[in-house]
Parts: sequence; C-alpha cells; structure tokens
Amino acid sequence: METKATIRQYYRTLRRHIPAEKKLLASCSLADIFLNASRDKSQKNIAVYLAVDGEINLQPLINALWQLQYNVFLPVIDINTQMLSFVQYNASTTMKKNQYGIEEPENISSNLLPEDLDIVLMPLVAFDLLGSRLGMGKGFYDRVFEFCRDKHNKPLLIGVAYACQCAQQLPVDPWDVPLDGVLTEKELLMFSGKP
Ligand SMILES: Nc1ncnc2c1ncn2[C@@H]1O[C@H](COP(=O)(O)OP(=O)(O)OP(=O)(O)O)[C@@H](O)[C@H]1O
Ligand SMILES: [Mg+2]
Repeated sequence: METKATIRQYYRTLRRHIPAEKKLLASCSLADIFLNASRDKSQKNIAVYLAVDGEINLQPLINALWQLQYNVFLPVIDINTQMLSFVQYNASTTMKKNQYGIEEPENISSNLLPEDLDIVLMPLVAFDLLGSRLGMGKGFYDRVFEFCRDKHNKPLLIGVAYACQCAQQLPVDPWDVPLDGVLTEKELLMFSGKP
C-alpha cells in the first residue's frame, strides 16, 4: 500500500487543479445537500472551516447556516498545546492569520468544548468508503476528536471533499479517528449508524 505522504501529494494536486467554475458549483451544490439532509433541527452547533489549498469552499453553506440561526464555529490552533479549540464565527468576527496563514477568529473567548459540538464538518485530503480520513498530516483533528472513538453520541464527524477525493483504500494508523460520513458535491454518504 502507498504511504500517506504519497497519497496526500496526489490528492492535493488533484483538488488544486479543479477548474474555478466547477469549484463554485460544487460549493453551492454541497450546501444544498447538507441543508436538505439536516432534519434534526436541534443540531445547532456546527463546526466548519475556511478553505485553503484547493479545499472545497464552505462559504455558501456558512452563509445559509447563519441565516438559519445555527451557531457556527471555526477551529483555532492553540500554539502551546497544538490542540484545536472551536470559536464562534459570524459575519462580524474579527479575524487574524495563524501560523499556517489560515484565518482564525482573533478573540477566542466565545469557544465551546468539542463535546458540545453537534456536527463537525472537517476538511480532508482523501477519504475512502470505509470512513477513513487522510488530512493534511498534522493530526489536529485526530487529537481533538480522539474522545469520539468510544462515544456513541455527538459530535457527528463529517468529512467534506470533492467526490474525486474518494480513494480506493487509505492506510490507517492507530490514532486515526474514523468519519461518521462524508459530504461531497454529489451526496452525503453516511458510514456509521449515527443519526
Ligand atoms: N491522539 C493522538 N495522540 C498523539 N498524537 C497524535 C494523535 N493523533 C494524531 N497524532 C499525531 O499526528 C500525526 C499526524 O497524524 P496523521 O498523519 O493521521 O494526520 P492527518 O489525520 O492526515 O492530519 P489532520 O487530522 O491534521 O488533518 C501523527 O504522526 C501522530 O503523531
Ligand atoms: Mg489522521
């Protein structure tokens, strides 16, 4: 089996080369799919991300979530612990760039515990149909959601990707936290039996 590094390189290049108009259509289509699928209106705390490196852009979905009065959170890296915390995000949030050049809310006081998120939409480089996720390789999401491994309730971990980021079968390390589902521009695929 190929190494994570080789697979990562392949899928990062692939997603960066998707034409701009296809990217825009995918972002809008993904928003519609998510909103049509989310029947449980009590699931109001949703973590999203701001797209970098050719990741599928969640902004159309974020705008819709704001309009529907969801509480939207962004991951913020704690420089000392290298852990993610989740900080509330709205149209007037002041942002600043983190060590990777990714925008984060500047004021991190309005954060909540990862356990209190209902749904986490997480970026990924590749996924497979067994629910394995390959990220950018820093292990941030694996560390913060390690507790989900033996918890049968929330949060629901949903990877977000272009359909073309589906890999044959990914290598899995002991620390990799499996996904409950994947949201693409084509469908919402659920792997776990979670609601
Ligand atoms: N629960 C954990 N405890 C300790 N170290 C961890 C844990 N989870 C991940 N790591 C560390 O993170 C590193 C990167 O993990 P991995 O290659 O799975 O990244 P990734 O899932 O692709 O990245 P990311 O989750 O940031 O998108 C691993 O080498 C491992 O040392
Ligand atoms: Mg991992």
